Amino acid sequence: MLRVETVAALREAVGAAARPLGLVPTMGALHVGHLSLLSRARAETATVAATIFVNPTQFGPSEDFGRYPRPIEDDLRALADVGTDLVFTPSAAEMYLPGAATTVHVGGPALPLEGEMRPGHFDGVATIVTKLLLEAQPDVAYFGQKDGQQIAVIRRLVADLDVPVEIVAVPTVREADGLAVSSRNVYLTPAQRAAAPVVYRALAATRDRYRSGNCNRDELEATCGSLLAREPAIDAVDYVTVVDADTMAPWAGEGSCMLAAAVRMGSVRLIDNVIMD
Ligand code: PAJ
Repeated sequence: MLRVETVAALREAVGAAARPLGLVPTMGALHVGHLSLLSRARAETATVAATIFVNPTQFGPSEDFGRYPRPIEDDLRALADVGTDLVFTPSAAEMYLPGAATTVHVGGPALPLEGEMRPGHFDGVATIVTKLLLEAQPDVAYFGQKDGQQIAVIRRLVADLDVPVEIVAVPTVREADGLAVSSRNVYLTPAQRAAAPVVYRALAATRDRYRSGNCNRDELEATCGSLLAREPAIDAVDYVTVVDADTMAPWAGEGSCMLAAAVRMGSVRLIDNVIMD
């Protein structure tokens, strides 16, 4: 596995790489969720490239940028173990030049849900993902369904900016009890961790109602909301919503629909979603 730390070295490496090239952007602290993206890329592309960059611009001022885990040696080992060919680990100075003044702002799918709860977050995501796509020029880029809105935002920006890349959404990897695997799960206390699977249970139970014929958005949201409200370890429900999976607008009864929830347990925010089909 070749590790590069500058944009110039990345460009040189991808210029010489066998095609198709698959890119898996991450912020590191790699877990089985990330590794499923890499395995998928390994199975589908001739060259697998990963990026590890804890992107400061997608964190809000009160978020966990400073304490975000950065176990680089473990990450490099995990990447090598799944057959990654190339990893890009730039510094913040390499990614954001002095005087950097350009932001990629996506409207539409970036505005509701996480866009409302985390102002500026998707500007940071869209800007860094655009840069990574321009730098690595992959044929295919892999993202997790875990962050379903992020996928919608990236698909939108790739379409709008004519970026020549295929975006692949990889199913959410879950713990045995249903909790979506996330690097932030380590912040949960044992009691919160024990209660956390309620999020997926509520989503799955609501999806069952949908599948058995209830397509009323308000009722589905109420069902899921009341299952979450019953759990005392949940301190707040930021949203429970049935949206169009492409536009993130309230689902109007046609097209692919996604049930998404965000809850808070103490200082930890858990987000999860299911595609309802
Ligand atoms: P990060 O949170 O490190 O996630 C990297 C990729 O792994 C994302 O596409 C995310 O959706 C996916 N992922 C995380 N947990 C997953 C799980 N349990 N199952 C499947 N996929 C999972 O998302 C980001 O980084 C950043 O926003 C990034 C796109 C790298 C831009 O900075």
